[in-house]
Amino acid sequence: MEAKPLDLPARADHAILWRNDRLYLLDQRVLPAAEAYLELQSAAATAAAITDMVVRGAPAIGITAAYGVVLAARQGYADAPSDWKTAMTPGLDRLARSRPTAVNLFWALERMQAKIDALGADDPAPALLAEAQAIHQQDLAANRAMGDLGARLIEARTAVITHCNAGALATGGYGTALGVIRSAWRDGLVERVYADETRPWLQGARLTAWELHKDGIPVSLLADAAAASRMAAGGVGWVIVGADRIAANGDVANKIGTYSLAVAARHHGVRFMVAAPTATIDPQTPAGADIPIETRDPGELLCCGGQRVAAAGVDAWNPVFDITPAALVDAIVTEKGVVMQPDAEKIAALLAG
Ligand code: MRU
Repeated sequence: MEAKPLDLPARADHAILWRNDRLYLLDQRVLPAAEAYLELQSAAATAAAITDMVVRGAPAIGITAAYGVVLAARQGYADAPSDWKTAMTPGLDRLARSRPTAVNLFWALERMQAKIDALGADDPAPALLAEAQAIHQQDLAANRAMGDLGARLIEARTAVITHCNAGALATGGYGTALGVIRSAWRDGLVERVYADETRPWLQGARLTAWELHKDGIPVSLLADAAAASRMAAGGVGWVIVGADRIAANGDVANKIGTYSLAVAARHHGVRFMVAAPTATIDPQTPAGADIPIETRDPGELLCCGGQRVAAAGVDAWNPVFDITPAALVDAIVTEKGVVMQPDAEKIAALLAG
């Protein structure tokens, strides 16, 4: 991956940019201390950027992978114009291996594959680029729609808690959970956002707080372990989070720590909302236990800011997502509508509608 200067100030809604026929990603590993775009020149480099967390968040991973398919096709057509579909296969395979949990990755790759299957012998890049851009724009539109739907569930002005980053940075723009929060703030329904710092990558401290602060939405950072105490102190009406995959029965995979938030919310009578596009719902996965949970390098926990904090020889367990059972979810908000108290029947009806 090579950093190329791009004459643009870093913006959360410009996390993924296609400019002058090139793919740029805002490097989320270094925000907010540095605001730098990386140019990705191949599908393999794009896949590595997803694995390495340059770009993260389920919808953003899917959109990025779609642009990665364009890069794979462009290279395949340059290498083997008469057999570009075969030539691009390694790039597609590498993209599919980049991260396992967010189903939006596989959803986007399947949608791009359907386009590939329909193309003939001509240069595939223009048609595939149009499809990737449609995926990008449709995600932004979905976020705006679910933002408004989710905001309507908030009956009275309240503080809310969010976890990880489910904002513009994690999507095509506006955000899923932060989209709901943005719409609710616009409507005078949000007093303050408590953002869990989200160990160990600190998506809440580094990304969510950056996004909300830039928008002038009052935000206070919470140590993850402080969320239950914050609920007990009162004044928090909703926990609002995103999702990496929602199983057919309504179980939700999201950033590690979401499950404990949901348990604490139920205990304290705080309501629990999951905002996610229908692309995040995986009807092929019956229940949460069937969702593949990514486990990352123990070093992410054993070190902090590049410094080892645990004694040499100590091991760590580092699953980066967990499953919140549907029974702990009050509302799933999608661009197609809201499912209250989700179950398999209601999810199937939503997808059929
Ligand atoms: O590991 P990450 O940063 O990719 O995890 C992201 C999350 O868990 C988000 O909450 C989820 O993808 C929803 S993003 C709109």
